[in-house]
Amino acid sequence: MHDTIVIVDYGSQVTQLIARRVREARVYCEIVPCHASCEKWRRPELKGVILSGGPASVYAPGAPQLDPELLRLGVPILGICYGMQALAQALGGRVRAAERREFGRTEIACDPTSALFHGLPAQQVVWMSHGDRIEGVPGARIIAHSEGCPCAAVEIPARAIYGVQFHPEVTHTEHGAAIIANFLYRVCGCRGDWTMGSFIDEEIARIRQRVGADGRVILGLSGGVDSSVAAVLLQRAIGGRLTCVFVDNGLLRQDEARQVRALFAAGIGIDLVVVDAGERFLSALAGVTDPERKRKIIGKLFIDVFTEEARRIKAAGGGAVRFLAQGTLYPDVIESVSAHGGPAAVIKSHHNVGGLPQDLGLELIEPFRYLFKDEVRAIGRELGLPESIVWRQPFPGPGLAVRILGEVTAAKVRVLQAADAIVRQEIEAAGLARGLWQYFAVLLPVQSVGVMGDERTYENCCVLRCVTSVDGMTADWARLPPETLGRISNRIINEVRGINRVVYDITSKPPGTIEWE
Ligand code: XMP
Repeated sequence: MHDTIVIVDYGSQVTQLIARRVREARVYCEIVPCHASCEKWRRPELKGVILSGGPASVYAPGAPQLDPELLRLGVPILGICYGMQALAQALGGRVRAAERREFGRTEIACDPTSALFHGLPAQQVVWMSHGDRIEGVPGARIIAHSEGCPCAAVEIPARAIYGVQFHPEVTHTEHGAAIIANFLYRVCGCRGDWTMGSFIDEEIARIRQRVGADGRVILGLSGGVDSSVAAVLLQRAIGGRLTCVFVDNGLLRQDEARQVRALFAAGIGIDLVVVDAGERFLSALAGVTDPERKRKIIGKLFIDVFTEEARRIKAAGGGAVRFLAQGTLYPDVIESVSAHGGPAAVIKSHHNVGGLPQDLGLELIEPFRYLFKDEVRAIGRELGLPESIVWRQPFPGPGLAVRILGEVTAAKVRVLQAADAIVRQEIEAAGLARGLWQYFAVLLPVQSVGVMGDERTYENCCVLRCVTSVDGMTADWARLPPETLGRISNRIINEVRGINRVVYDITSKPPGTIEWE
């Protein structure tokens, strides 16, 4: 078993980033809701607990409190922001509203003799975001302060208790990753045994054990990175007992079905079934404009197709299919169902998480359910997959349906496919693809007036969406060279009938999301 850190979620939007930083430091961690009983974490591999930030005030009625049992687990604790305040309150300290709230970049003076700041400069920039502050904790030593926050970090070394008012998990905190690593290695004594190589070996063993000697699995291959890497991992584990099902749902990018066939069937030798279900999906989506309804309809149809394929394999004498494998990632789970049960809001139902029926009749295998995309890419590299797969752009399960705002029709899909193909060609030709997380076009149900060849036009607007990101949880719009933007716009307007205006989306995530629906 791997050394494990439990992250208690008090509802911060950046709790996932704590998990990212811990994993980057090669330590396994899990996020759990703040109201879960901590009894079941009492296991030998538990090395420490991190308490996340959160939107509440500890003294507000109904605010989540620290479970006193947590203090009796006998492992080190690091409280971050709200987590620190909840910890302070539980230890008998006073928390109250600060006269001056602190948001953003703040300079602190810290004590490098504390294990938390070991090897770090005594003055450093951190990211603060708090309205309350603690006024001291009995028995604790103050190890950092800022101008507006006399108690920016505290420690009780004898009990291995630490608290920071700032957010070490965000990249704006200059030495945040090092502070978290100090906690993991110097305070918790973690070994750093979480690597992608170890994950692959363990996961292959786990899959073999679950599937047994003669179990069959079908896998929903979408052509994106996650399901592609999952397909290769499962093939390693169970060989020919895996059948990949690629559903051509009529919502794919131009030429996608051919590419997937070439890459997976011809290239890697995976048993691949391509199901042509375009008409079925488009007729189910006719007249539907609500984004969540679209996602639910698509999710349900995917499952219908998978279960039909399972039946077909059985009827053809291939044996009963008991398992459905998917490339679901941790962020999909977190954003869809607030899966760890914390107070974080549901943003959108990722089709492979939110849309599964209770009576699926197939057991799910989701090897990456607790991983982030860059970890999956690292696994792809370890498995020796070609760059063309490892660096494929993420592509959402509901496909172009979440990039065609309003009703989806075959004609709109064709228009968007043509525009999207131009975006991809130009970004790739300019050598910009590797620096971007995603680059694609979105079709708006908005018409505007234009003039082409002395004629008035009244056609749709296309949005160019290009973002940089590490894991899709947060993203920024890409600062593309104006020449590239110009060439893309020119080509789309000249070559794609139905679009007479191209705009560039300059919204980061948050507050936007990457996809438009
Ligand atoms: P958002 O739009 O939520 O997207 O900022 C974050 C990342 O997730 C991808 N995405 C999906 N992936 N099923 C998937 O497998 C989905 O339903 C889905 N919706 C969004 C999106 O492309 C981006 O990379």
